[in-house]
Order: sequence, then structure tokens, then C-alpha cells
Amino acid sequence: MLFTILALFPDTVSCFFQESIVKRAIDSGVVSINLINIRDYTKDKHGKVDDYPFGGGRGMVLAPDPIFRAFESIRNRGYTIALSPMGCKLNQEKVRELSILDSLTILCGHYEGIDHRVVESLVDEEISIGDFVLTGGEPAACVIVDCITRELEGVLGDDLSKCEESFDRSGLLEYEQYTRPAEYRGMSVPEVLLSGNHERIRKWRMKRRLLNTLEKRPDLINRSRLSGEYRELLHEIEKEKSDESS
Ligand SMILES: C[S@@+](CC[C@H](N)C(=O)[O-])C[C@H]1O[C@@H](n2cnc3c(N)ncnc32)[C@H](O)[C@@H]1O
Repeated sequence: MLFTILALFPDTVSCFFQESIVKRAIDSGVVSINLINIRDYTKDKHGKVDDYPFGGGRGMVLAPDPIFRAFESIRNRGYTIALSPMGCKLNQEKVRELSILDSLTILCGHYEGIDHRVVESLVDEEISIGDFVLTGGEPAACVIVDCITRELEGVLGDDLSKCEESFDRSGLLEYEQYTRPAEYRGMSVPEVLLSGNHERIRKWRMKRRLLNTLEKRPDLINRSRLSGEYRELLHEIEKEKSDESS
């Protein structure tokens, strides 16, 4: 998949691609990155790319011309998103949707944002990574590339590892994970995980997923797509809770 990223501070983004899973995906050719410095496309002799907002107010706005010219340099633009706190909030469903594209262009804003004519003319969709405000879109671009990359086939050694984790197709959170040693500073791993009984472990994990979701993100339960087995376990949990309180 080709990611084209337009940013004012591309170094913030490029260092992110130099380690771990995203780097491996790039090295193996599953992912390509085309990083464009918007400043390279300004005609201003001082390299200026922003200007004061019309109508007054604080801060600076990224001017349209360098961005239009930067876009005109892109050969394979594909689907185009702009990063903005006003955009559609990113979730795993959106990540899966974007991960089937061959080419994604990501426009990072900075300062007070981007001249809206850019958004209207060049952008298919605005995306937010959460209800907070960053200084620029660069960290958000890293987030987008990262979560899409791990969805791509062959990137995670074992594609099954995507099947049972938070926000998978069931819509639940994950169960707790443990590794060696079984005893650490007086804390032990749940006995069932050491039992070697795969069926008990499977059931325990399913139940922990439901309990974690009920406790930490109860809003997800109503939106989740639970199999019959999960629904049975949910009834069991509800019964246990009502027995405890009576
Ligand atoms: C300081 S923000 C601009 C905020 C804008 N004035 C507003 O109130 O909505 C500068 C840039 O950071 C990026 N940004 C900030 N918060 C973001 C978020 N939650 N998700 C995605 N991008 C964000 C956007 O590219 C934005 O243009």
C-alpha cells in the first residue's frame, strides 16, 4: 500500500518509520511511503507557507497555493484524507475500511489548520484521531499509517493475532495477557492459563473479554456483534452478578 504524506514537518513523521513493524513492512515492500514537504512547493522566497486568518483571530492558517502545488506533484493520489479534529473519529472499522485501498494520501495540517478551499477541492474525507487537539497532523499521520499497516496481509507474522484482540470483529476488548515468569514479586498468573487445558483457556479468555468490556467500555457491548457462545457467557455473567447482589 502506498502512503503519500504531505506535512510541514516531515522529519517528525520519517523517524517513526525507522523502527519495528512499520519499518519491516516498508523493507518487505508491503508498504511504501512518499513523504512530501509542503514547504518545498511554496513560491515565497522566504519559504512562507502560512498566513493570517481572514476575519481576524489568533494563529496562522496553511495557505492553499503550496498545498495545491504539492498535490499536483503526486502521481498516484488515491483516496485522500485530511487530518483534523473536526473529522470523522478514527476507529478500527474505519482502519479496516482504509486498509483495503492501494493508495492513501494524508494531508497534515499545522498551526490553526488548513485553508478550507484545499479541503473542499482536494480531500475526500477529514479524519480525527480523537477528541483532543494536536499541534499538527504529523503524529496523527503516524497513527494512521501504523494502524493500517498492521491490518495488511503478511505484516504481523501470524495474521490470527488480529482475530482475538480489542475491537476485532466481535467489537469487544481483549482479555488480559501474561508471560513468564508465572510468579513475579508475589503476583501469580491466573491458574487456568497454566493448566494446559485449551478449552478452559478459550472459555476464560472469552469471559474476560466480556468482563473487561463491561467494566471499561460498557458502551461497546450494545454495539458488539456477539456469537451465540458469547451471548450465553454474557447471560452467565449477568446471573452471577445478580446472585452476588441478592
Ligand atoms: C492546532 S490543530 C488546528 C485545530 C483547529 N484550529 C480546530 O480548532 O479544529 C493543527 C492541525 O493538527 C492536526 N490535528 C490536531 N488535532 C487533531 C486530531 N485530533 N486528529 C487529527 N488531526 C489533528 C490537524 O491536521 C490540524 O490542522
